[in-house]
Amino acid sequence: VYNWFLFGHILSVFVFLVAHGVSVFVLFRVRRERDRSKILELLTFSGETVLPMYVSLAGIVLFGVLAGLKLSAFSHWWIWLAIGILLVTSALMVATARPYFARLKTACEVRPSGVPRVSDEELAQLLRSQTAMVVATIGTVGLVAILYLMVFQPGAV
Ligand code: HEM
Repeated sequence: VYNWFLFGHILSVFVFLVAHGVSVFVLFRVRRERDRSKILELLTFSGETVLPMYVSLAGIVLFGVLAGLKLSAFSHWWIWLAIGILLVTSALMVATARPYFARLKTACEVRPSGVPRVSDEELAQLLRSQTAMVVATIGTVGLVAILYLMVFQPGAV
């Protein structure tokens, strides 16, 4: 049964990467865009992948905990650290990535009169901002650290 837990865990990771890959690419793609309707379309597309991303995240944790119990891994610190990094990365995403995309969305809104709510200059500034790099760094460091802990299981011998 351990193999099925591992299978479910890896399949969930696969779905997570497929779903969240959309947000990853949109994060960089919008930086080259100045057309408000196109930016909105990209941000909306990313938003549509958030629910499947959360469902896959739940699958990752569920099957990961089941596989970990089978391995008696919870007596080792690596699995606790991996779960901690997953939670911290997710919390930091909610605190940085979500509000960034929300601000971009607002900046793309156009009044019924046809005048944008935010000036072109302000929109360009938001798009050029370092927030995207901060989000990408948090996510990449989190992913790589968790992968290292899962593969090398330090302390488990
Ligand atoms: C362990 C790795 C990662 C985890 C657990 C994670 C988790 C999350 C979570 C929980 C959200 C919040 C979704 C919401 O409630 O709105 C989010 C949003 C986001 N993440 Fe990540 N993420 C990871 C890696 C990355 C990476 C590597 C990037 C980019 C290079 C990235 C870019 C984004 C973006 C752009 C959003 C906003 C999506 C939207 O609102 O449409 N994430 N992530």
